Amino acid sequence: MQQMIDTSRGSFSVDDSGEGTPLVLLHGFPLDHSMWKDQIARFSSTHRVVALDLRGFGKSPPRNKTVTMAEFADDVAAVIKAMKLGPVVLCGLSMGGYIAFAFQENHRDLLKGLILCDTRSLADMPEAAKARRVTAERVLKEGTSFLADTMLPKLFAEKTALTRPEIVDATRRVIESANPAGVSAAARGMAERRDYSDDLAGMDIPCLVIVGEHDAISPADEMTTIANRMPQAELKVIPNAGHMAPLENPPAVNEAIEAFLEQLG
Ligand code: MLT
Repeated sequence: MQQMIDTSRGSFSVDDSGEGTPLVLLHGFPLDHSMWKDQIARFSSTHRVVALDLRGFGKSPPRNKTVTMAEFADDVAAVIKAMKLGPVVLCGLSMGGYIAFAFQENHRDLLKGLILCDTRSLADMPEAAKARRVTAERVLKEGTSFLADTMLPKLFAEKTALTRPEIVDATRRVIESANPAGVSAAARGMAERRDYSDDLAGMDIPCLVIVGEHDAISPADEMTTIANRMPQAELKVIPNAGHMAPLENPPAVNEAIEAFLEQLG
C-alpha cells in the first residue's frame, strides 16, 4: 500500500507491504520505487517490504537545491524510525547504493544487512562531477526528457532493449515524469559524494553485492572489487542484465536476495 509518512525531515511516499523482517528498497537515479515491482511482488509474502520514493522523486516532494547522499540517508533513517521498523535489510541500486554507503556510516544501529545492486564505491572524477552540475542546471530549464534519451541506452543491456521494450518504455515514462527540482538536487548531491573505497575493508556487515553482467555504469569488475574488499560480502553476477538487473532479470536477482535473507535469518 502506498502512503505518505510524516517525519521530522518532511513527508515521504512509501510502498509498504507484507510482514516480517523489514527489507527497505532504495531506487536509482532518476527513478522511483516502481523499479522494484518484481522484488515487492516476491518478498512481500515473507518480509515487510518498504520501497521509498527518495526526496524529490516519485510522490516525495523536493526540498533543497542540493541533497547529499548523507542527507538522503538521514531521510531514510527518519522514515525507518517513524515507521518503527527497527534494524532493516537495506537494498540500494546505484544512487540507492551510494545512499546505502552513507547510511552504514551514519546509521549502523538501524542496519541488519546490506544489499548493494549495480553501484559504485568511487566518487565522481572531476569531469563527471562537472557534467552532473551541467545536467542539474539543464534539467531545471528543459525538464527531464533529455535525460531519458541519454540514460536509457546505458541503463539496460542491449538484449533487454530488444526483447523487453515494455520495461524500457515504462522506465522512460518514470524519467519523463520525474520532478526536475528533485532530479537536479540529487545530481548535485551525487557530484559531491565521497569515495568509500578505503572504508570497504572496515564495513563489517553481512552484504550481498549484485551486478548485471552487462552493467555499463557500475561494471562487474568494479563491483567484484567491492565484494572482495568487504569482509562479509558475497557477489552475484546476474546474467542477461545490465545496470537495471532487478528489472531485467528478476528471477535471478530474487533468488540471490532470497538466499541472502535466509542466511541472515
Ligand atoms: C543510477 O542508476 O542511480 C545512476 O546511474 C547513478 C549515477 O548516475 O551515478
